[in-house]
Amino acid sequence: MTDVWSFPSSFFWGTATSAYQIEGAWNEDGKGESIWDRFSHAPGRILDGSTGDVACDHYHRWQRDLDLMQELDVNAYRFSVAWSRVLPQGRGKINEPGLDFYDRLVDGLLSRGITPFVTLYHWDLPQALQEEGGWTNRRIAEDYVNYAEVVSRRLGDRVKHWITHNEPWVAAFLGHAMGIHAPGIQDFQQALAATHHLLLSHGWAVPVIRQHSPRAEVGITLNLHDVVPASPSYADANMARQIDGYFNRMFLDPIFGRHYPADMLVFFARQHDARMDMVQEGDLQAISAHIDFLGVNYYTRQVARDAAAADNLPPTINTAESEFTEMGWEVHPHSLHRLLNRLHFDYQPRQIYITENGAAFTDTITPDGRIHDERRLAYIKAHLQAAHAAIACGVPLAGYFVWSFMDNFEWSYGYSKRFGLYYVDFEDQKRLPKDSALWYRQVIAAGSVSPD
Ligand code: FCB
Repeated sequence: MTDVWSFPSSFFWGTATSAYQIEGAWNEDGKGESIWDRFSHAPGRILDGSTGDVACDHYHRWQRDLDLMQELDVNAYRFSVAWSRVLPQGRGKINEPGLDFYDRLVDGLLSRGITPFVTLYHWDLPQALQEEGGWTNRRIAEDYVNYAEVVSRRLGDRVKHWITHNEPWVAAFLGHAMGIHAPGIQDFQQALAATHHLLLSHGWAVPVIRQHSPRAEVGITLNLHDVVPASPSYADANMARQIDGYFNRMFLDPIFGRHYPADMLVFFARQHDARMDMVQEGDLQAISAHIDFLGVNYYTRQVARDAAAADNLPPTINTAESEFTEMGWEVHPHSLHRLLNRLHFDYQPRQIYITENGAAFTDTITPDGRIHDERRLAYIKAHLQAAHAAIACGVPLAGYFVWSFMDNFEWSYGYSKRFGLYYVDFEDQKRLPKDSALWYRQVIAAGSVSPD
């Protein structure tokens, strides 16, 4: 019966990182300043006052890191390219040493039998473009296409998996409405403009990447949630629909050819006096460019509760057994299964990759020199079981990437949240495999996850 839990032999078993979170070398070899350099250097923005100036020093230690990845036995690695390393001013003169770095990284992966999955944009916009309005200025979509062309022309012969954007919801809303991510703006109108230009840049870039990277798969990664009402009340059901629109449909619908959701346009206009009046003729057709896969980042579900509902029901449906990670995110693997099925049945992406899934827990090195991170291991295991169950339902899931390969700079939380399979000592940059890494290696070798 064990084969019931086997994954397809072509399955990509990977780990993921992003440039700003691991590379360091923020101003070396001609790299330009990014909005995250600027944001983290401003006082009070990052919980522990840290920056990504050094991070995991991966820019200098990449070869050893790839050796560790090979020991982990992954057959895929998702990383991102720092736009301002390649084009320090965002457009114009190419910084060849920056491009060379990614060239060597790709060759280093391929020589170790690891398939590169390249994310072109994981939030680190060149500061020079931010000075012109960044994602709120339509011109950025052309700059992004130019950047995608530069990178795909150089790496496209060897890279066959491209992710245009990572989590545009986060870039648009945490960056421009909540202001807790770079560039730190609090304005819903600007968040909507950023949303549209992020998606437009994606749509315009898809054919350009294909042109420079023949037979490549091109897709986009979204942060998606299973949204459930906290109670059977109509008020909570309405709230669930609204939250689903905000996180999920606002991005899925235009990408899959359905325009921005009408209820969301009303919502933004009424609640935030914000409008999608920047949409021009032909934009939605461009945004719905055919993609080869949908990348799904899944961490937790969302429980919807209408604060105004006067029914005295508790604000959540958490029970005594509910577990939360260090991020305060509920552990709910069943929702991954529900989400994957929903995506398959509502949108029919040709393939799905889980491009991020993982958990932050406090890690302690025990006297035996190990890190027994049972809770992280259990989290990954339960989500792999959910992923397997989705495949059994017919979901075309083709790969899974643990976030993250190693502990790193967790954005506004600095170094206070550890997601890695490898522990990083940020004093001496030593890496240590946690128990979850040793276990993941066994799962990959077996190509299956045990049912219990
Ligand atoms: C995702 C990000 C990733 C990491 C994880 C924890 O939203 O894409 O960079 O921070 O969350």
